[in-house]
Amino acid sequence: MEDIDLLKSIEHGGCSAKLSPSDLAKVIGGLPFLKKKELLVGTETCDDAAVWKINDDTAIIQTTDFFPPLCSDPYTFGQIAAANALSDIYSMGGKAILALNLVMFPAKDMKLNVLRQILRGGAEKIAEAGAVLAGGHTIDDTPPKYGLAVTGIVHPDKIIRNSSAISGDKLILTKPIGSGVLLAGNKIGETDSHDLETALNYMMKLNKSASELMIKYNVNCATDITGFGLLGHAFEIAKGSNATLKIDLHKIPLLQGAYDLVDLGCIPGASFRNLKYVEMKTDFNNNLDYNLKMLSCDAQTSGGLLICCPESTAQNLVKDLIAAGYASSIIGEVVPLIDENINLSVY
Ligand code: CO
Ligand code: CO
Repeated sequence: MEDIDLLKSIEHGGCSAKLSPSDLAKVIGGLPFLKKKELLVGTETCDDAAVWKINDDTAIIQTTDFFPPLCSDPYTFGQIAAANALSDIYSMGGKAILALNLVMFPAKDMKLNVLRQILRGGAEKIAEAGAVLAGGHTIDDTPPKYGLAVTGIVHPDKIIRNSSAISGDKLILTKPIGSGVLLAGNKIGETDSHDLETALNYMMKLNKSASELMIKYNVNCATDITGFGLLGHAFEIAKGSNATLKIDLHKIPLLQGAYDLVDLGCIPGASFRNLKYVEMKTDFNNNLDYNLKMLSCDAQTSGGLLICCPESTAQNLVKDLIAAGYASSIIGEVVPLIDENINLSVY
């Protein structure tokens, strides 16, 4: 394969290229959303995907995600973009069945073989998910972008929403945090190559088995951690569930190398945007380590699930997740709303 460094084509890659959550809220705010009784999950709770009831046994889940390259290698980029797009099906407790490619590619400036590698990575992930790739759409555009539109299915009574956490639930995270920092560090040549490889491997890992485990354990609520960071997505769970999430930052599994990079001052702009989104409704402990605080706002690409699980089964779920290869741990709990202005309590 010829030498191509996809990173040379972009400014922000992966989920850090998302619009900020506050800008997005402003833009979506006034749109005319029709309400239909078949639409079981729409835009109101900022959930991961839309869910539409077909009949008493089946609902379809629809979602889409795409972004510019976050790493140099096209094949790896394709795998991560596909794993990330499939993730919103898994965070809803669904089974992915059908995927379409979304492709933007500068055909005049890059060899078509680069696109071929991207699509091969994506196709292999879709196959690993047990879903079928059935088409797509391509636009000549620079920089390249890739992702999927995915359809999944779920029983209408078994949807796992991001707005149904119950007081007393334990919070379980299934992948370590810090991919945004490691990717930003890599762009300026500061990330250790072994640390980068570990991070990319986590991003390639499907949330499929984690999702199957959370279904087995009848958890109450879940979302996946992507561009808005751990706190941004935790905030949406708290708001939607009318509860407060208490999070112990010292319990968060971190990717090797991420803390040291933040300590050197490597903090991506997305972290500040995400912090701004949650800080009005967050009680940060006064003695909080600044580096951990910024990592809790780090934009993740193809991050893990954040699961709200009854206390009685939380330890067993964590054990099963670890056995399935996830760096999983209990990082906090759900409590009744402390104050209408406090959705997150971070210590
Ligand atoms: Co999501
Ligand atoms: Co998404």
